[in-house]
Amino acid sequence: MKVLFFAPETGDADAWRASLARVLPDADIRVWHPGDTAYADYAVVWRPPRELFTAREGLKAVFNLGAGVDAILRFEREAPGTLSPDVPLIRLEDTGMAAQMNEYAAYAVLRYLRRFDEYELMQRCGEPHWQVLDPHPRETFVVAVLGLGVLGTQVARTLASFGLPVRGYSRSMKTLAGIETFASDAALGGTPPGAAAPGAAALDACLEGARVVVNLLPSTPETEGVLNRRAFARLARGAYLVNLARGAHVVEEDLLDALHEGRIAAATLDVFREEPLPAGHRFWREPRVTITPHISAQTLREPAAQQIAAKIAALSRGEAVSGIVDVARGY
Ligand code: NAP
Ligand code: GLV
Repeated sequence: MKVLFFAPETGDADAWRASLARVLPDADIRVWHPGDTAYADYAVVWRPPRELFTAREGLKAVFNLGAGVDAILRFEREAPGTLSPDVPLIRLEDTGMAAQMNEYAAYAVLRYLRRFDEYELMQRCGEPHWQVLDPHPRETFVVAVLGLGVLGTQVARTLASFGLPVRGYSRSMKTLAGIETFASDAALGGTPPGAAAPGAAALDACLEGARVVVNLLPSTPETEGVLNRRAFARLARGAYLVNLARGAHVVEEDLLDALHEGRIAAATLDVFREEPLPAGHRFWREPRVTITPHISAQTLREPAAQQIAAKIAALSRGEAVSGIVDVARGY
């Protein structure tokens, strides 16, 4: 079996090859280089160039070394047919990412609940500043989790376990104990011309008066720019934004305006439209924006390799596997 590997952003290629070789002992694993159009049974990739897929015959499946497939689907939209419709694109499902997302989301939300962000600013203001702030009442500190998939569901449950009122938003309706759920599908198909986008009513209802938004939607044409002026206007004044999904979800100018107007009190951003976030970007100069370099849930080599190997084994036995991306839907 021949496996093509390309993931320069996910660390040492030799370490990846060693991890894959342990779970796929019969595989010949090679790192893709430009011009390599030779045969491969499987491709294991993260943010590959389009060229990797062109003039390539025989692939049985493409494994995406992450949850989000937006980078691959972007060039499929730009040049339809780059991915063969007969070759499944399979994303990672959890592989240790949900635990990381839980930690990150809990840390960010509790930091705002307990106003640690404000105490940090006070300490940094240059003068000793001893001031006790009124706590935010937990019962009204409503958290809206956008996206109730593999990661969002666990994050919503974790946040609810702190006694916070949690709402969740997804495409199809979910039932999650103790979490109020909203589904965009409810509005699909019935939107009159000129009305807000499909799903907007459900999204509005989920955001209405919320104190925190935690975003875990996939990046698709439908979700592009979903965190915009209109969405921010729905939130309680002085709300918080925690974006863990993709930079394309945020209309950056709208967020900066909302921060300056006090509509958004602070934001924790792990992902950006341009990564690395350029040195001159205004977010770097915003004291109320906390920046991390796309690390909220990193791809872990061993569990990822194990999940991919288990799916290759299942596919070669002719069995169905989970995690196949619906290319038309975009996730
Ligand atoms: P997932 O299992 O595919 O879940 C996606 C969720 O979003 C589902 O609940 C889906 O609804 C919902 N959704 C999709 N389109 C929608 C729409 N138009 N309106 C309303 N809801 C919609 O994905 P996941 O594994 O949880 O990962 C989510 C995202 O997190 C990834 O796509 C990736 O961008 C991001 N991520 C970031 C990092 C990082 O380090 N920053 C790491 C991992 C993942 P249904 O359930 O009804 O289908
Ligand atoms: C990381 O951003 C992922 O999508 O797994």
